[in-house]
Amino acid sequence: MNYAVRNFVIRTIGIVFLVLAWAKNRLRGYSTPNLVQAEDVGGKVEYAVHTARAWRRYLPATVEIRGREVLELCPGSSLGTGVALLGMGASSYRAVDVFRLASTEDAALFDKVLNLLAQDHATADIERARSLVRSPDGGFDYRVDRSFDIPALVDGRKFDLIVSCAAFEHYDDIDATIANISKVARTGCVATHIVDYQTHSRWVRERDPNNIYRYSEGLYRLFSFPGQPNRRRPLDYVRAFEANGWKNVRVVKAQTIAQADLARLTSGMASPFDRAEMQMDILAGVVIAEYPG
Ligand SMILES: C[S@@+](CC[C@H](N)C(=O)[O-])C[C@H]1O[C@@H](n2cnc3c(N)ncnc32)[C@H](O)[C@@H]1O
Repeated sequence: MNYAVRNFVIRTIGIVFLVLAWAKNRLRGYSTPNLVQAEDVGGKVEYAVHTARAWRRYLPATVEIRGREVLELCPGSSLGTGVALLGMGASSYRAVDVFRLASTEDAALFDKVLNLLAQDHATADIERARSLVRSPDGGFDYRVDRSFDIPALVDGRKFDLIVSCAAFEHYDDIDATIANISKVARTGCVATHIVDYQTHSRWVRERDPNNIYRYSEGLYRLFSFPGQPNRRRPLDYVRAFEANGWKNVRVVKAQTIAQADLARLTSGMASPFDRAEMQMDILAGVVIAEYPG
């Protein structure tokens, strides 16, 4: 089937959204980390537990969270994910970010995260997590710096698990970030990064999830802003982790385009996204890598 007319229309609409996203960022700066509203405490609790459970599900079966020192990159507006990981038995949690979006949470939300987890985790872990999140001793903390200098943000510490969700696609330079996390990975560290490869403007995303890949680099960058989806594909992550010595690097498909929609939603991609190696069927994936040291 020929999709030329549809591609022309959706590409034109997409350009309008690119300009709107750019203008919104110029006016308001970076503001919306995810779709859960700031005042929706129940939604934030569920999102945090859901994300931590997703990391658990994608980690290799032989890897435990219990007893591990965890680093989360860019938790956005909530440290609830860290609370959930502590409730699952992690020994410590540090989060680092570029924007300070999570500074106003109160301990009641953290209690709700732990209450939700309590049904399927050891009481001792849940109670230990409750006291860690209230203690200033460094077992649960959060550092922010616009330069995103990860080794400096972690004060020389090393980690057993390095995780993120919906963050890597916003980085200006994923190669530099992966080189930096390699400096803070302990031998045996496992990295688990949930990456959303799709268009982020909601209206377009629902109709044309690969819309951002319809534009040349020059046109896309004309409307760039801090945090704009970087259009890096699964193979870019595999190459970058392998270049830094990580082993068993793979991208597990978490969300793909349905077979019936594949031809329509992957036609009209700009170069280089028109190549098979770009795996344009993947809408979301989990990058998993192991650090041998
Ligand atoms: C969509 S939010 C995801 C937050 C959270 N992990 C979640 O799942 O809701 C993107 C995160 O990336 C960070 N971020 C945005 N732009 C960035 C940039 N240019 N470089 C590094 N981090 C950035 C934000 O501060 C935010 O924490």
